[in-house]
Amino acid sequence: MCRCIITTTATAVTAVLMSVVVFGGSVQVVESAIGVNWGTVSNHRLSPSTVVGLLKVNKIQKVKLFDADPDCLRALMGTGIEVMVGVSNDLLAALSSSTAASDLWVAQNVSRYMVRGGANIRFIAVGNEPFLASYGGHIQSYVMPAITNLQQSLAKANLAGAVKLVVPCNADAYESSLPSQGAFRPELSQIMTDLVTFLNSNGSPFIVNIYPFLSLYGNSDFPQDYAFFEGTTHSVTDGPNVYYNAFDGNYDTLVSALNKLGFGQMPIVIGEVGWPTDGAISANVNAARVFNQGLIKHVLSNKGTPLRPGQPPMDIYLFGLLDEEAKSVLPGSFERHWGIFSFDGQAKYPLDLGLGNGFLRNAEDVNYLPSRWCVADPFKDLSGVAEHVKLACTVADCTTLNYGGSCNGIGERGNISYAFNSYYQVQKQNSQSCEFDGLGMITFVNPSMGQCKFLVGVAEKVVTRHNSQGSSLHRGSVILWLSIFCWAVLEL
Ligand SMILES: *[C@@H]1O[C@H](CO)[C@@H](O)[C@H](O)[C@H]1NC(C)=O
Ligand SMILES: *[C@@H]1O[C@H](CO)[C@@H](O)[C@H](O)[C@H]1NC(C)=O
Repeated sequence: MCRCIITTTATAVTAVLMSVVVFGGSVQVVESAIGVNWGTVSNHRLSPSTVVGLLKVNKIQKVKLFDADPDCLRALMGTGIEVMVGVSNDLLAALSSSTAASDLWVAQNVSRYMVRGGANIRFIAVGNEPFLASYGGHIQSYVMPAITNLQQSLAKANLAGAVKLVVPCNADAYESSLPSQGAFRPELSQIMTDLVTFLNSNGSPFIVNIYPFLSLYGNSDFPQDYAFFEGTTHSVTDGPNVYYNAFDGNYDTLVSALNKLGFGQMPIVIGEVGWPTDGAISANVNAARVFNQGLIKHVLSNKGTPLRPGQPPMDIYLFGLLDEEAKSVLPGSFERHWGIFSFDGQAKYPLDLGLGNGFLRNAEDVNYLPSRWCVADPFKDLSGVAEHVKLACTVADCTTLNYGGSCNGIGERGNISYAFNSYYQVQKQNSQSCEFDGLGMITFVNPSMGQCKFLVGVAEKVVTRHNSQGSSLHRGSVILWLSIFCWAVLEL
């Protein structure tokens, strides 16, 4: 629910199912697409080209970004993969106040890629869950003015037809105990009216993030089986309709809310949906597999919901493609474990995205660091180690050690070794990073224990960002040069 408070970045990748339907002689392509969020809040980033290779080998045709990262967009150039770029919430104020700012944003982050052999940008997400109740309304007033400015910038750039503005909303924008009673939160009614009026006139879908996992995690009374798609002993009866899973119930609550505003037929896209694999009792590989496979099967069955029979969501972007082990854990330890792939692009469980490709395929040619680990020296007294562990786990990810995690229960020494190793890998195995005042020791024997994996980092080439003022000019010219170079090559 509140992942957006924390994250400015996450990633979605979408897979597309194309079914060809023959209609009285003419062939019509009905698209029901499964895409993916590609987030990059990670200490172990695969290079964008490795990630794009992962999308391609899995035939994933739609990807949602949380920003407009030039490295990611450059890697997506020439692939044909449909892209949703994002305007982060902290840019909304500036974009709402000036058309010069929106013109520049569109020029730098959209137009420059919309060339032959460029990136296939289809959507711009204006903010990420800007109406979240916990923001206390601080951002929402910028949304419509930012949309107005960006829309005129797109029109000026001749891109208003090709690129559509959308606003991914948290499901807390609407409420009700029964789907048929769904309504937007009273304080949002004016802004939602304005938003859906704009979306409708522009042919854009409504985008919502739905997380049955968070309902289950946050509510001990929530029936476990209602979060999944395998049938439930806790179905919800709503007049003539019966709901067998939380996803459909939530979706139809939105349909009712849209209906109340007079837009009951507006297309809906699921911007984020998924299940984490670690860091909480109900977050594990099996639950994630059952949820995601059940969801995909459900959507691709074209059954729809009681209020929209035969009409599944237009697109679904799974959250997420990869684990992001540098995300804030304010929502819970599970927050770093949403990936269908681990940080290094390895499938966590068999999942068929419905793209005619079978189960997930791993990233190819991942450039790992050497097979070595940092652990606690077995011959040392570890009584003074607490501060080291604390520091290591502030920099690196130790969430799997917590209650419900895959490494909970590996013992005190195990805990210390896990923390040491996580830190050592984030430091790219720099030998000094295994010092810990002489308590650490490098080993060539994999210390993983059962479900608990001690990771080896990746040494992928990721273009590093220059944050200093002085280098920005230089960086700009390098990018310009690179883009010209890319286009020149593509023109040949
Ligand atoms: C927009 O593009 C510029 C120039 O490439 C880049 O520095 C900036 O990070 C991009 N903006 C976002 C929100 O990603
Ligand atoms: C290992 O660390 C976790 C997380 O801090 C903690 O819950 C657990 O009790 C620790 N185990 C031991 C034996 O100290």
